[in-house]
Order: sequence, then C-alpha cells, then structure tokens
Amino acid sequence: MFMMHDRETPVWDLVTRIFHWSLVLVFCVAQITAEEWDSAHEYAGYVIIGLVIFRLIWGFVGPKNVRFIDFVKSPGTIVEHITGMLIGRHTPETGHNPAGGAMVVVLLVWLALTGLTGWLNISLSGPTAEIFEDIHELLGEFSLLLIAAHITGIIVMSILERQNLAKSMIDGKKFVSE
Ligand code: HEM
Ligand code: HEM
Repeated sequence: MFMMHDRETPVWDLVTRIFHWSLVLVFCVAQITAEEWDSAHEYAGYVIIGLVIFRLIWGFVGPKNVRFIDFVKSPGTIVEHITGMLIGRHTPETGHNPAGGAMVVVLLVWLALTGLTGWLNISLSGPTAEIFEDIHELLGEFSLLLIAAHITGIIVMSILERQNLAKSMIDGKKFVSE
C-alpha cells in the first residue's frame, strides 16, 4: 500500500551494525545484573558509556546515513512525517526516517544520563550519592520503556514498509523505492 519494493540498497555500515548489537548485548547485561551483581553491572554500564561516546564521534565522521546532520530533523519535519504516515503517505528512506532519527537521539542521551548518574552514585557519598542513586534507578527502569517504544517503532515500520527492518540492522540492506 505504501511503496514498490524495487531496489535493495546498503544503508547501515558494518561498524554501526556492530555498535548496535554490542549495545543491545551489553544493555541486557546491565539490566539483568542491576542490583544483583554490582561489579558486572558497573562494567556493563561503563561499556555502554564508551559505546555512546563512540556513536557520538561516529555521528560526525561515519558514513552519510549515520551522521547526525543526515537524520536529526526539526520538530516541524518530524510532525509532518508522522501526520503524513497517518494518512498513508510514506516512502522508505535510505537512513533513519525523521521520527526514527529523533528516537536515536533520545536513546543516546538517555543512556548517557543513566550511565553518568550510575557512576556519580558510586563515586560520591552521603545524601548527594543517594539523590543520584534515585535518579539512576528511575532512568534505568524507564530505559526499558524507551526500548519497548523503539522495538514497537521497528515492528510498525516493518509492517508499513512490508520489510524486516531488524534484518536490515543485521545485513545492512534495506528496500527503498526508486
Ligand atoms: C546506561 C547504562 C546503565 C543502565 C541501563 C543501568 C540500569 C540500572 C538499573 C535498571 C538499576 C536498578 C534500579 C532498580 O530497580 O532499583 C541500576 C542500579 C544501579 N546501577 Fe546502573 N545502569 C547503568 C549504568 C551504571 C553505571 C555506569 C554504574 C556505576 C559505575 C551503575 C551503578 C549502579 C548501582 C550502584 C546500582 C544499584 C543502586 C542500588 O543499590 O540501589 N549503573 N542500574
Ligand atoms: C531486539 C531488539 C532490537 C531490534 C530488533 C532493533 C532494531 C533496530 C533497527 C532496525 C534500527 C534502525 C532503525 C531505522 O531503520 O531507522 C535500530 C537503531 C538503533 N537502535 Fe535498535 N533494536 C533493538 C534493540 C535496541 C536496544 C536494546 C538498544 C539500546 C539499548 C537499541 C538502540 C538503538 C540505537 C542507538 C539505534 C540507532 C542506530 C545508529 O544510527 O547508530 N536498539 N535498532
């Protein structure tokens, strides 16, 4: 209903794909070990901080589709994209769509803040540490909701575009209309 499937194009480079699935793995470790196995949780948290910093750099020096300048759009464009989609106007893009791009930014900022508050929690002491502990727990728990929204977005867009977008994050290729 939305498009013709006519051309399979490389969209995600190998580095970005390795980044993505490493993040998924380490994020699962951080969630599973939280409040169960402190040292493993803290290591996983530091690795996530490292991955986010790497992705920030990659967003400037990486290939076109993963550069922030390519996919970070104004709120107006994002709203236009979503309303367009609701009335059945949508064409798959060779990178993140405007809403997906906004989600990437929210995810990266959220993970950075979660990691930072976790680190501040164990680095400080007294009441300040407790404040960061509360904030960290809140951010850590809510990150699950964000991921649920992320995965829902992938499923909805896969149905609309009649293609498996999760697979595109594995083999790097996506169908786009000519
Ligand atoms: C972005 C990465 C991280 C995520 C997603 C995350 C997530 C979580 C979650 C979900 C909890 C349990 C909250 C609860 O149910 O009460 C937690 C607790 C904790 N996190 Fe993290 N965390 C991350 C990074 C870190 C880092 C980098 C550190 C420290 C270096 C850290 C230290 C802690 C500590 C000490 C607790 C336990 C607090 C307590 O005992 O109540 N976390 N984290
Ligand atoms: C099995 C679960 C997951 C699947 C199937 C999945 C799938 C995807 C797909 C298909 C994209 C590309 C979106 C687009 O076409 O615009 C993407 C991007 C992204 N996902 Fe996931 N994802 C999963 C879990 C996660 C988790 C747990 C995290 C973070 C903790 C995460 C963080 C990201 C980020 C940061 C991007 C942006 C990629 C980039 O441009 O570097 N994803 N994901």
